[in-house]
Amino acid sequence: TGKVTYDPGFMNTANAKSAITFIDGDQGILRYRGYAIEDLAEHSTFMDVAYLLINGELPDAQQSEAWETNILRHNMVHEDIKSFFNGFPRDAHPMPVLSSSVSALSTFYPDSLDPFDEEQVHISTVRLMAKLPVLASYAFKKSLGQPFMYPKNDLNYVENFMRLCFGVPAEDYEIDPTMAKALDLLLMLHADHEQNCSTSTVRLVGSAHANMFASVSAGINALYGPLHGGANEAVLNMLRRIQAEGMKPEDFMEKVKNKEDGVKLMGFGHRVYKNYDPRAKIIKKTAADILEKLGGNDELLEIAQRLEEKALADDYFVERKLYPNVDFYTGVIYKAMDFPEKMFTVLFALGRLPGWIAQWREMIEDPATKIGRPRQIYVGQDLREFPQR
Ligand code: CMC
Repeated sequence: TGKVTYDPGFMNTANAKSAITFIDGDQGILRYRGYAIEDLAEHSTFMDVAYLLINGELPDAQQSEAWETNILRHNMVHEDIKSFFNGFPRDAHPMPVLSSSVSALSTFYPDSLDPFDEEQVHISTVRLMAKLPVLASYAFKKSLGQPFMYPKNDLNYVENFMRLCFGVPAEDYEIDPTMAKALDLLLMLHADHEQNCSTSTVRLVGSAHANMFASVSAGINALYGPLHGGANEAVLNMLRRIQAEGMKPEDFMEKVKNKEDGVKLMGFGHRVYKNYDPRAKIIKKTAADILEKLGGNDELLEIAQRLEEKALADDYFVERKLYPNVDFYTGVIYKAMDFPEKMFTVLFALGRLPGWIAQWREMIEDPATKIGRPRQIYVGQDLREFPQR
């Protein structure tokens, strides 16, 4: 066994060799399969990026169409799944509802759970990509008390999801192209981020040869945490609080710096980026454009911008190399799209799904993979005598 290294939070421990995503945290560089995130954001789509992450290459036009059509063909979910949603409290947070329903997919598809059967892995990939948006929309509709929608496959992946969320039966739903484009971009920017907490969870669960549905369900639960994907919801709550209390951003900063009640500037800081998060850079610009077009709450965006401005000029943040991360500006955009705060992390999950799948598959295919099993440094009692009574 040799000497055990103590490395809480795996600050310096690599658990995988991966060819999927490259990050240079000091320079603020992010690439999927070698392509710069800025180029993908400008020229590609979420569906094509999902294909790229999972298959290693960008699809040509024909492959792209076949990929999306195949996914759309699998987007019906078993009618029995709907009954689960009635078992949750009406105000249930959609993240645990989502992870539960994804976990339940294992029970509906016992024919495709073998991680070492290529065809089964393929069909599980397609099923997950197809059904996650539908399940996410059910979790949303349930919280509104509205009827579930069926997918409509003359719409594309992202448009379909918008209609599933905001449409109602027997009425036409008009797609707003500005919103569809922005949502596509946001999903793409979230699509992978190497060995983050949820992805590492997916790999760890999968390393026990648990099936893809079980592994992804675990990843959704990890993402739910406010230090990870849950930060987008926490950012909006923070901005709202500052707005409601009429607080000056400077005063809020003082609270953060004094670590008052553990208050953090949510949406700031990152384990790997010690420079501006390149995703946040793209999103900041989009936020301004979208709010202009969709007409959202400008005041929240202004508060966010002022907080950023103050933070970037403040020694506390400069010394610690704390910059806005991907979650800082997304909430303002989601809000302008009419998603309630509770749905923000669900949107992150939809975006991250292709990354989880790609990483799970890479882990399964890698002959060097072993079951994930960290060691510990035992600090408890030495052997004790059992008390005689
Ligand atoms: N506000 C105030 N202080 C902060 C913040 C923040 N957002 N982030 C880090 N710090 C301080 C921290 O208190 C520590 O200070 P000190 O040295 O005085 O104890 C120092 O900066 C180093 O931080 P750390 O917590 O040791 O860094 P980490 O790599 O363990 O944590 C993080 C990274 C993202 C969990 C953390 O920065 C954080 O909690 N940020 C707020 C939550 C957030 O926005 N999360 C989203 C992350 S990006 C996308 C995603 O994964 O979803």
